[in-house]
Amino acid sequence: MKTKKPGDSVAINTEIVLPNDTNVLGNLMGGRLLHWMDICAAVAAHRHCSRVVVTASVNNVSFNQPIRLGEIVTLQAKVSRAFTSSMEVFIDVWVENNTTGEKRKCNEAIYTFVAVDQMGNPINVPGIIPESDEEKQRFDGALRRRQLSLILAGKMKPAEATELKALFS
Ligand SMILES: CC(C)(COP(=O)(O)OP(=O)(O)OC[C@H]1O[C@@H](n2cnc3c(N)ncnc32)[C@H](O)[C@@H]1OP(=O)(O)O)[C@@H](O)C(=O)NCCC(=O)NCCS
Repeated sequence: MKTKKPGDSVAINTEIVLPNDTNVLGNLMGGRLLHWMDICAAVAAHRHCSRVVVTASVNNVSFNQPIRLGEIVTLQAKVSRAFTSSMEVFIDVWVENNTTGEKRKCNEAIYTFVAVDQMGNPINVPGIIPESDEEKQRFDGALRRRQLSLILAGKMKPAEATELKALFS
């Protein structure tokens, strides 16, 4: 199967925060942002493998700063590493200042998607070769994050998590 570059999978989505997206303080609700991130990341995973993909796990989400009603939100998703049937996808989120147009990074998340056939069974995806320093850094960390996610899901024994153990030795 032909390998691909992270850049081949990039998905970008722009949203404006409307009243129905906010809590009583006028801030974007976390659940709405998770939904936007899920869709954007699914498009990136789909672009990588050209198959149906399902969300397997949401590994890292940080809500660092509130996003206000009326602000414009840009999400960028990119596959950081592909394993056998699963793909790790990074989502970076920026908010645009309505007056100056200046963008500030406000969130980051890491999702895992699995490519499936029509019966919902996992199928192989192309490998990925990182190019930029950031892509290489995210690629290298992906194995560690995968082991942590599988341990938390009860699908891997901690003793088998060699990459994680190496962090402490
Ligand atoms: C995701 C799903 C296809 C995995 O199927 P499965 O029978 O558990 O298959 P496997 O155990 O062989 O795992 C398949 C891949 O998923 C990965 N995976 C499964 N659970 C994972 C988790 N919690 N975190 C990270 N990766 C995970 C495995 O590591 C494996 O990756 P690999 O093929 O690259 O090595 C299946 O659990 C599923 O359909 N889940 C529901 C998906 C869904 O509906 N999502 C929307 C939720 S609202």
